[in-house]
Amino acid sequence: MCGIVGIIGHEFKVAELIEGLKKLEYRGYDSAGIAATNGSQLIVTKSVGRVDSLKNVIEEEKVVKSGIAHTRWATHGAPNDTNAHPHTDCSGKIAVVHNGIIENYQELKTELIKRGHKFKSETDTEVISHLIEENFKGNLFQAVLDTLKILKGAFAIAVIHSDIPNVMVGARKGSPLVVGCNDKYCVLASDVTPIIKYTRDVIFLEDGDVVYIEGNKIKITDFSGNTLIRKHTHITWDESAAEKGGFKHFMLKEIHEIPEAIESALVGRIDSNYTPSLHELDEFNLERVKRILLVACGTSYHAGLVFKYFAEKYLDVDVLIDVASEFRYRPIKITEDTITIAISQSGETADTLESVRAVKKAGGKVIAISNVVGSTITRESDVTLYMNAGPEIGVAASKTYVNQLVLLYLLGLYIIKKRDLWNQEYSEIVKQIVESPKTLKGIISNKEIEDVADNYKNYHHFMYIGRGINTATALEGALKLKEISYINAVGYPAGELKHGPIALLDPKFPVFAFAPKDSLYEKMRSNIEETRARNARIVAVATQGDEEIKKIAHDVIYVPEAHEDLYPLIFAPVIQLFAYYIADKRGYDPDKPRNLAKSVTVE
Ligand code: AGP
Repeated sequence: MCGIVGIIGHEFKVAELIEGLKKLEYRGYDSAGIAATNGSQLIVTKSVGRVDSLKNVIEEEKVVKSGIAHTRWATHGAPNDTNAHPHTDCSGKIAVVHNGIIENYQELKTELIKRGHKFKSETDTEVISHLIEENFKGNLFQAVLDTLKILKGAFAIAVIHSDIPNVMVGARKGSPLVVGCNDKYCVLASDVTPIIKYTRDVIFLEDGDVVYIEGNKIKITDFSGNTLIRKHTHITWDESAAEKGGFKHFMLKEIHEIPEAIESALVGRIDSNYTPSLHELDEFNLERVKRILLVACGTSYHAGLVFKYFAEKYLDVDVLIDVASEFRYRPIKITEDTITIAISQSGETADTLESVRAVKKAGGKVIAISNVVGSTITRESDVTLYMNAGPEIGVAASKTYVNQLVLLYLLGLYIIKKRDLWNQEYSEIVKQIVESPKTLKGIISNKEIEDVADNYKNYHHFMYIGRGINTATALEGALKLKEISYINAVGYPAGELKHGPIALLDPKFPVFAFAPKDSLYEKMRSNIEETRARNARIVAVATQGDEEIKKIAHDVIYVPEAHEDLYPLIFAPVIQLFAYYIADKRGYDPDKPRNLAKSVTVE
């Protein structure tokens, strides 16, 4: 997820584009750049780091006629001045900014290089500027239309040409794009935050829309150039609300971004036979792995725990998982058939980083799973599976946890495929993962979760219980509630209660129980009855159609039926929303919980 903005219509200072970028910085902040034209030449300035670094190297007072700008969240190519956007063509006259992922960029790039194009960056985006150059015969709009036809993936783009300063072209497929005009200017942007200063009447472009802007007039068409009519929306939000997309907090916004985040995680990773293709792992011969070391902290550790259950169920491997703060001080045994997986959304967590270094020192190979391109853990690991969840502002992990689960399921399925163990059941699991954006969208819009949370906002203790693969869900649910509502929440394997924890239970100590219709359902039911016998109030998360559970739980949150090993994915937004609403109703700011940091870079 990156932020793009373009301004055109009347002369303006470059400072306007900088200001627009600042408002989009929450969408990505590892590098930024601007391309602007005054009608004779294209001025391109780019810088690694936040928008302020760009501000320090650009002439803000310079007056231009049109310009596009970008703040980046890298997916292809580490954050540096060359990979920063905008990207230009060989003539240096065409500039493009892009938010999204071009899936078929490699084959397009190979073809363009054969035709003599010179590429400067490692990005997927640069193919767009060279393709437009290929198609340009004096009409920028037509050149963009011809280019759009061959692009695969998700994109929102803005394009200018230095010789045509009164024209800008934008297009969207999968990534958001908004346009708004007043009597002097038109502004094109990833969201309304940079636009509401100019006008509060905007058009949210839809997938497949192209916007042709000439001066302060716009025309909207489809990818074939057929004119489309789009209605205006009047924006009432203030800027901070706009940054949150109208949501009260970033955490709630990021939970609602889960479907889109999963889509981005799946881009280019499921082939036409519905099997996982993780080409970046092909050289690691994972089919021969017998021992997997998993190292992570906090929520990432819980995602790893889900992988342990999944991999040990379907693969003849030993998965040894440990919290990084312990792992780094224990003797590390690396054998021929050992691979290490380090999970870290930030890619900077000190304990996980030192664990990676310890494994490397012991001669081991490390696969990183991370959300931040160019982060230290990704640079020091042998290969990285990027989560592509986009920046997560809320300290409590939400969409990144979901994308970690999706990648870890794909990793397990990838090894199954490499071992020729594939069968219909795995195709069904992949199918349900591919459909999960829709499934989770339905769960996220389930208002019942807030109503149930309202019943529990005044408790000071909470116990989360689950069995099998949902033991990890119980631990994660407890962590989510702990870290943003400051309730003393504990998570346990349900079968462990009678060995001590059940002593805690009484009417003031409610229980959150994961009771999907899976092979451990009956066991889970009896554990719930045990807790009920201690007068604990019970919330059960259960599979739609399970009427029996209502007899033993005080509140029930239903989710659609799923493959039994995918319930951690299905339950993720439930535990996140439940914790979010309780924290919000207790008057806390879930985005900035006390005593916590988004990335723990100290030991
Ligand atoms: C989760 O909500 C917390 N922010 C925290 O437990 C986090 O998961 C942990 O610090 C690990 O962070 P990482 O994934 O960036 O390494």
